[in-house]
Amino acid sequence: MYACICHGVQDHEVHDCIRAGAHTEEAIGDACDAGTGCGNCHERLADMIESYFANESVPAA
Ligand code: FES
Repeated sequence: MYACICHGVQDHEVHDCIRAGAHTEEAIGDACDAGTGCGNCHERLADMIESYFANESVPAA
């Protein structure tokens, strides 16, 4: 699935960027161009960052 249609960036690529240290929408844009076009995907990118940290910081219950 594409996370960013404008740049054809797939969600797993965005996840790789987040895991590599891109923890803001701007950093993701710098890392893989996602979010640097029309901006429609910003909410999706923010959700991906949020769920990354949710999964990181909350111990599996
Ligand atoms: S869909 Fe990501 S910038 Fe347009």
